[in-house]
Amino acid sequence: HKSLTFLGIESSCDDTAAAVVRSGTGAEILSSVVEGQVNLHAAFGGVVPEIAARAHVERLDFCVERAMAEAGVTFADLDGIAVTAGPGLIGGVLSGVMLAKGLSAGTGLPLVGVNHLAGHALTPRLTDGLGFPYLMLLVSGGHCQFLIVDGPEEFRRIGGTIDDAPGEAFDKIAKLLGLPQPGGPAVEAEAARGNTARFVMPRPLLDRPGCDMSFSGLKTAVLRARDGVIAQRGGLTVADRQDLCAGFQTAMAAVLQEKTRRALDVYLESDPPVPAFAIAGGVAANQPIRAALETLCHARAVRFLAPPLRLCTDNAAMIAFAGIERFRLGHHDDFTLSARPRWPL
Ligand code: KG4
Ligand code: ZN
Repeated sequence: HKSLTFLGIESSCDDTAAAVVRSGTGAEILSSVVEGQVNLHAAFGGVVPEIAARAHVERLDFCVERAMAEAGVTFADLDGIAVTAGPGLIGGVLSGVMLAKGLSAGTGLPLVGVNHLAGHALTPRLTDGLGFPYLMLLVSGGHCQFLIVDGPEEFRRIGGTIDDAPGEAFDKIAKLLGLPQPGGPAVEAEAARGNTARFVMPRPLLDRPGCDMSFSGLKTAVLRARDGVIAQRGGLTVADRQDLCAGFQTAMAAVLQEKTRRALDVYLESDPPVPAFAIAGGVAANQPIRAALETLCHARAVRFLAPPLRLCTDNAAMIAFAGIERFRLGHHDDFTLSARPRWPL
């Protein structure tokens, strides 16, 4: 492969990010700048789209400048500019797309629009040079789906959530129990000290065939269990909170493990030469969930990959890399590239 160096730009949710990636025989992240917006949204209990968009507009050009400086490159060293063109919060996506178009117009560099989900799905190729086809579970605050990845632009979705995403469930449980946001790490920390047997939560959709999942019922079950304890004793003790988190997380891990078992069945049917399963998205940081999936893969002689956390969560290195992969297929965009709030793979 000819070596290609791309700038990547990501602004589809609440992280403002820019990165420079070089990819030839292997891929190398020359820089990856991520500015989170957690502080801006903390008071509202969720991401406020208008605030997110304004912050992206204010910060994106500085992030690009920093990413280029840290990588030690100028525009003359680049082969293209990749940008997340969706799915996501439209104001944020638009600010990234407009900046990328401006840079492309000013430099003459090719413009490559990237699907944010493709960025996540191709990350194990960036980190480990993983070959096609592999099975991927994308689990974040906004997404939950199984994908068989056959090529840089070939994704087969074989199941996913029919309601909430797991990260969203973790965040809502944290809110119910008065824990800080983002909820995932907080709930995991509480659960580690809890009794998993005290509250046995439902395992939604396990009774039905297929790889689809549902998590809104699980959230309701935690709410009911919490209210039961409060009705009985007038409040929650530290131990109550820990046990509720443990019950919730155990059910979540069990559902993800069983659905992954079924997704592996579908994937292995096609007899992949080097079977591999990769996980991505913020929830991939959860140790018990990660361990449940790793054990499963081990038992079935499937290679298990989990990219480092900073590349599991939103970043622009995955966008630059996915842009390079698209570009190698001969695909790029012109200035009619539009920002898409919805864009299924
Ligand atoms: O991929 P991500 O950074 O952003 C998107 O949602 O696109 O994922 C963030 C989500 C949040 O919902 C957060 O609570 C969850 O990932 N998360 C976790 C953990 N760390 C982050 N969930 C469970 N356990 C964790 N340790
Ligand atoms: Zn994401």
